[in-house]
Amino acid sequence: MNDKKLKVIDLFAGVGGMRIGFEKAGFEVVYSNDFDRHACQTYRENFGEIDEKNIKDVDVDQIPDFDVLLGGFPCQPFSMIGKRKGMDDERAKSFFHIIRILSAKQPRAFVLENVKHLRLYDKGKVYDRIKQNLEFVGYKVREAVLDSQNFGVPQHRERLYIVGVLDHSIDFKFPEPRTTSEPLSSLLEKGVGEIDYLSEKYYRGLLNHKRRHSKGGNGFGCAVLDIKGISNTIVAGNMGRERNLIKDKPNKKNRWGIRRLTVRECARLQGFPEKFRFPVPMTRAYHQIGNAVTVNVAKAVANVLKKQLIPLKPVTKQNILRPVVPTLSKLTSRELQKAAAA
Ligand SMILES: C[S@@+](CC[C@H](N)C(=O)[O-])C[C@H]1O[C@@H](n2cnc3c(N)ncnc32)[C@H](O)[C@@H]1O
Repeated sequence: MNDKKLKVIDLFAGVGGMRIGFEKAGFEVVYSNDFDRHACQTYRENFGEIDEKNIKDVDVDQIPDFDVLLGGFPCQPFSMIGKRKGMDDERAKSFFHIIRILSAKQPRAFVLENVKHLRLYDKGKVYDRIKQNLEFVGYKVREAVLDSQNFGVPQHRERLYIVGVLDHSIDFKFPEPRTTSEPLSSLLEKGVGEIDYLSEKYYRGLLNHKRRHSKGGNGFGCAVLDIKGISNTIVAGNMGRERNLIKDKPNKKNRWGIRRLTVRECARLQGFPEKFRFPVPMTRAYHQIGNAVTVNVAKAVANVLKKQLIPLKPVTKQNILRPVVPTLSKLTSRELQKAAAA
């Protein structure tokens, strides 16, 4: 068994959910990037260094050699397809920087994460283009929707995971779902302060709003969870927190004891370790956790990938399906788009 650590780079790093999962599986992170000042603040606090700049300004020559590229690239632009933006949106171009870096550095594998609907936008055409681009730079690509609740955390969170391997003799298989996870009650904090409880006035307002919307046939996102079960998806937007309310101890502020989940509880639902710190205001911390990849899912993917990439056999021309265009790394993202569409 080769015990040399496989090296990864963490792009669109956020606060490092993917990173922690890969580190737990024995990978070593050699470079990280994100352009969000607050995400970088949390990342630095927990891991030390991160290259804080827009991915478009990252020169491939400044990235050390590595084996696996990680990237939870932004999903909003792809959901804008209805507004005729989609792949042409400025932010969608960040995907083409993944292509730029893959083609220049040719790592053995990549793992990308996104919302599960990415596969459905514009009748699947957006995902087809994404996949074609990844194949165009030499990778054999597999994708699967994995739900965090099947990987040891009581959270329903379905996300699309895309894995590519340069060695086409590898038949990558996603990790099998485990069905048991502890109930939500197992990770709740005790003695939570009044700040996390909803005022009765606000709670009544939410219920009225919900009633009005359900009459019109619309679901409205306000839910009190059964703590013997699991949570809904932890999302980045503020109102998403109202879809994960629980009934705790009645008190002066709320006689039914209705409160939101705390930052720590949300972090636990995403698999973050207890020692992980959020040196940012509370609303930012919620946002960062909602944006993260669930650590447990990343770890499960990392473990199966590691088994397939070790022993580190050289990737030869024979097992790469199509040769990589050597000048690709020099192209701009628009040129890359054109080249891939051709
Ligand atoms: C979904 S979050 C990533 C989650 C993260 N990979 C994890 O493992 O938990 C997407 C991140 O991409 C970053 N981002 C978006 N566009 C970027 C760009 N052009 N350059 C650098 N970072 C970018 C955002 O700041 C955000 O932190």
